[in-house]
Amino acid sequence: MKIRYGMVGGGENSFIGSVHRQAAALDGEYELVCGAFASDAVRSQHSGLSLGLSAERSYADFTTMVQQEALLPADQRMQCVVIVTPNHLHLPAAKLALQHGFHVLSDKPATFDLAECRALAEIVRKTGLLYGLTHPYVAYPMVQQARTLVAQGRLGTVHKIVVEYIQGWLSSPLENSGHKQASWRVDPARAGNSCCMGDIGVHAFNLAEFVSGLEVTQLRGELNRIVAGRQLDDDGVVSMHFNNNARGVLLASQISTGEENNIRLRIYGEKAGLDWQQMEPNSLWLRPNNQPAELFRTGTAYVGEAARWHTRVPAGHPEGYIEAFANIYRAFAGQIRAHASGHNPVQQAPGIKEALRGMAFIETVVDSASRDGWLPFPAV
Ligand SMILES: NC(=O)c1ccc[n+]([C@@H]2O[C@H](COP(=O)([O-])OP(=O)(O)OC[C@H]3O[C@@H](n4cnc5c(N)ncnc54)[C@H](O)[C@@H]3O)[C@@H](O)[C@H]2O)c1
Repeated sequence: MKIRYGMVGGGENSFIGSVHRQAAALDGEYELVCGAFASDAVRSQHSGLSLGLSAERSYADFTTMVQQEALLPADQRMQCVVIVTPNHLHLPAAKLALQHGFHVLSDKPATFDLAECRALAEIVRKTGLLYGLTHPYVAYPMVQQARTLVAQGRLGTVHKIVVEYIQGWLSSPLENSGHKQASWRVDPARAGNSCCMGDIGVHAFNLAEFVSGLEVTQLRGELNRIVAGRQLDDDGVVSMHFNNNARGVLLASQISTGEENNIRLRIYGEKAGLDWQQMEPNSLWLRPNNQPAELFRTGTAYVGEAARWHTRVPAGHPEGYIEAFANIYRAFAGQIRAHASGHNPVQQAPGIKEALRGMAFIETVVDSASRDGWLPFPAV
């Protein structure tokens, strides 16, 4: 049986909602059964109809959606709510869904701020329902392989982590021309207290902790507002200390003109360094000290089990963003089925722990930048 999901956000002319629908469709495990796709009832219903939903299940708003779905017979109502709205609506939608018995798969940043995320974690704990967070970069096969190599000790002790996420699309004040995606990202009322770190720095942070298996213990942030008139950062850099004493630097920028979606992770250990870039996602370089570099490739026989699980097609056929998102969906489907049957899932999508650490990262970077000093990473 397919898993029935409802979507909040993701209406016409939006960005990530359609990526989620494509990812959910890729393995045939999900069926979109309802949605509240926009802030405006008419646009929401129009979006639902154009996606092939019935008028009754193209809801005017997410409160109505959750309440009405909860009244349907168990074999018809949605099982899971996917949240793809601007950030300020993540908690209200997730809270309502969980309180009505629905699992939640949300886009990042998890909530508007850390206090909201702590409240969310408490609701997740109390309800015992599932919460997943779509950090797709950790679900690329070669990122999984990178984590395996670190865990196998191929790098030795990790000394240094350099992670960057650089884009150029906000290098001019797009928001002034009504650009939908730019407008809310630079608005503190809808984005939260950060644009660049909240939007993309948090992915880089999540990637660095996931692959290294380490945790940031203290950090110092510098945030810049390069384009005149912005209230939130569009560029920044973070120095980090990790719990094995490794040092790190995280660079995030949305004003680096000419850059597309350049997220790159380099980890240097005592024996070797590794290097992965999402714009060349099927390749992972391992560079041992004083030996020729090794190139790991997606879909080959020599990669580890985790990389294989995250791969769909044979070597040489590029897999990318939608497939990585689909890997999160596949993992979460396994979690939903395991939850229902009382078994252990095979894979776990990023969840509430990653949500809390991500929100703690954003908040600490903003605080540190305003005080111009190092701060401990909060316990979450
Ligand atoms: N994981 C990723 O790689 C990734 C990439 C892009 C965006 N995101 C995240 O996804 C979310 C959406 O980003 P986007 O770029 O798609 O934004 P967007 O502006 O393109 O889309 C937002 C959608 O939410 C809808 N919406 C607004 N208020 C609503 C309400 N009250 N009820 C229902 N729908 C409502 C809008 O009508 C629109 O359809 C953000 O939280 C963003 O950080 C994640």
